[in-house]
Amino acid sequence: MSNDLVIQNIAQLILPKKTDKPLKGKELDQLNVVEDGTVVVDNGKVVYAGPHSDEYEGKETIDATGKVVSPTLVDAHTHLVFGGSREHEMALKRQGASYLEILEQGGGILSTVKSTREATEEELFKKTDKALREIMSYGVLTVESKSGYGLDKENELKQLKVSHELEDKYGITMKHTFLGPHAVPEEAESSEAFLQEMIDLLPEVKEYADFADIFCETGVFSVEESRKYMQAAKDLGFDVKIHADEIDPLGGLGLAIDEEAISADHLVASSEEDKKALHDSNTVAVLLPGTTFYLDKEGYADARGMIDNNGAVAIASDFNPGSNVTNNLQLVMTIANLKLKLSPNEVWNAVTVNAAKAIDADAGTLETGDDANFVIWDAPNYEYILYHYGINHAENVYKDGELFIDNTIKVNTESEKSKA
Ligand code: NIG
Ligand code: FE
Repeated sequence: MSNDLVIQNIAQLILPKKTDKPLKGKELDQLNVVEDGTVVVDNGKVVYAGPHSDEYEGKETIDATGKVVSPTLVDAHTHLVFGGSREHEMALKRQGASYLEILEQGGGILSTVKSTREATEEELFKKTDKALREIMSYGVLTVESKSGYGLDKENELKQLKVSHELEDKYGITMKHTFLGPHAVPEEAESSEAFLQEMIDLLPEVKEYADFADIFCETGVFSVEESRKYMQAAKDLGFDVKIHADEIDPLGGLGLAIDEEAISADHLVASSEEDKKALHDSNTVAVLLPGTTFYLDKEGYADARGMIDNNGAVAIASDFNPGSNVTNNLQLVMTIANLKLKLSPNEVWNAVTVNAAKAIDADAGTLETGDDANFVIWDAPNYEYILYHYGINHAENVYKDGELFIDNTIKVNTESEKSKA
């Protein structure tokens, strides 16, 4: 009996391990890398993925000699839906203005709020569609998407709806996060009053959001305000997330652990005590090293310390129009390797199984019965993908066993024209 697709001679087949809990501490460095692998697909599902086997026949066969195959990647933290852009902030940054100073002057997040409010749902859809297509072309088919540039009911819902429409359009897995308390809008009477407004919105956004998130930072929301919000969201059945200790060490990580948040994100300035507490917690530390790079900060999150404390670490892009404008997760993987000092095994686990745990998604593995969502990488080994940085190594992206994105570079020469 023949199967739909057999991929043979895979130089390296990357097989992260399916687990109930996120990988912690030393487990993060364990990754099954099969030399000379075979993958077999039938009806959109993985039938076999492992060492070379001649047992299977395929209606279609692919020779992956010299290539890597892995599950499609997971981006567990993006601010995908936004209007406008902020290139004018580059000059301010060069002159030494900090991220929070720009925000205080009504720029930063608040400038994107203005552009997002001004955009129609159709305009936002078109812009976000382009960004999502780019993300998928990098081999990412599971994407978390936050609101947080509306800061009022109409515009927060507009963002969340766009995110859902895109999930339907492509049939990929997206997780949707309500980030109403992302900044205090100019028209708000006070931060307390605005936070209450966002808490009051929670029942209505529940239909559109899997998670509730908050920006806990100096000049934005305090730890106490964040606790109040997280508890209100949990009472309504939300899993909670938090932007914690991105710039100042307020203690957002400790709060996340107390509240059993599914993830705590950023953690650049987290205290030693809070990092130690990761030991006994299943909260995933989602580190965003692309943001530290783009904010041009000296110190990166202490990923090694967190892993040594037996913490669960994931890596994500934080794609957004201000603090990290790349949606290339492969680039962020290189930054994690270089600046967070993660080993290649840790990096690949951090953008597959652990990223999936941070957003409660069933993704990041290629075990028998899994959806056949995988990438054929034009690279001789998985470390090469981190080493040769800034480009797209994903040659072909497969979804449910079918070719979904072909990134082969086509050049209009006479000889290539005659082949087409
Ligand atoms: O995760 N820090 C808060 N939110 C985003 C940045 C949003 C923006 O600057 O537009 C972040 O870095
Ligand atoms: Fe973020």
